[in-house]
Amino acid sequence: MGVCPAVSRYFRRWKYMILLLLSVSVLAWLATFAGETVKAIQDTHRSAQTLEDNAEVLRGGMQYSWKTVTQVFSNPLPDTPPPKESCPEKSPLLHGALKLTFEDSLTLKEVESENSGVAEGQYQPPDCLAQQSVAILIPHRNREKHLLYLLHHLHPFLQRQQLRYGIYVIHQAGEVTFNRAKLLNVGYLEALKDYDWDCFVFHDVDLVPENDYNLYKCDQQPKHLVVGRNATGYKLRYKGYFGGVTAMTKDQFHKVNGFSNTYWGWGGEDDDLRIRVELQKMKIIRPPPLIARYTMVFHKRDSGNEINKDRMLLLGRTPQVWRTDGLNTCSYSTLSVERPPLYINVTVDIGKPLH
Ligand code: BGC
Repeated sequence: MGVCPAVSRYFRRWKYMILLLLSVSVLAWLATFAGETVKAIQDTHRSAQTLEDNAEVLRGGMQYSWKTVTQVFSNPLPDTPPPKESCPEKSPLLHGALKLTFEDSLTLKEVESENSGVAEGQYQPPDCLAQQSVAILIPHRNREKHLLYLLHHLHPFLQRQQLRYGIYVIHQAGEVTFNRAKLLNVGYLEALKDYDWDCFVFHDVDLVPENDYNLYKCDQQPKHLVVGRNATGYKLRYKGYFGGVTAMTKDQFHKVNGFSNTYWGWGGEDDDLRIRVELQKMKIIRPPPLIARYTMVFHKRDSGNEINKDRMLLLGRTPQVWRTDGLNTCSYSTLSVERPPLYINVTVDIGKPLH
């Protein structure tokens, strides 16, 4: 079986050329393969490096996260102070009986510089968590000097008692007859907008406490803090007297529907509150007479605060009307709330008597 002679001739003539072409193709293929292999090896190497790097990042990240977690639990935030413990039941800062001074030359600036820990009328003990938060409510009109003396004595007094506190001055705008009780209702409602105070102290502007064992804290029952005052030989004025300075928890005051809003002028509103307290079967408590002593800063009767001749009549109606005359019917317009360093000044329009 022979190959066709023409083909055989043709092959012989071109065999070297064909061999050369085949060799070149093989070489080209080899070169490509080698290149890709090298690239693949390089890629593999690079991927391995990346994996290694990622693992390193992850390891570092985990270390960092763990560090952050342990930091958060052991030391809350770098610049947050550690949590405070509760203040002791009895403050170690109390003095007992105090020597009160009423310097004519005293200025608000001096009182401010003596109380640098107070900001916008509020304070809390720097080293411990106060046992109670207390809003002191002071009804006020045209008694600037009395207010100054009271702030001068009350701030250090309350700080020694290690209380968290805010002092609210509720200022009746205009010339209409004064209404202490309604201003105190306004003070309660306005103070609760700032903070959920545990306790409220209803405080006359002209009474200065003489002994810091007289604690401005609330109790299981409503508390009357003025057993005696200098002007009346330090004797309780009468058995049911509940005026001057009293302390009630937020809930006790809410339970009696606050003060009546209808006592315009001097007298009666504190007796009305006592009746409300008794109707709720609560019992007024007082600190010992030697502690619950006050100095009354002298003043003449204010114009615009004349004796309320209707007060006995009103007191007779209290058991029938207390539910519909009090916090739930206290209408007023707040004209301004200012926050100078030592108190919160709420100026309010409380309307006028019906007749
Ligand atoms: C008044 C009270 C007052 C008390 C003591 C009473 O007749 O009704 O409002 O606090 O006398 O002065």
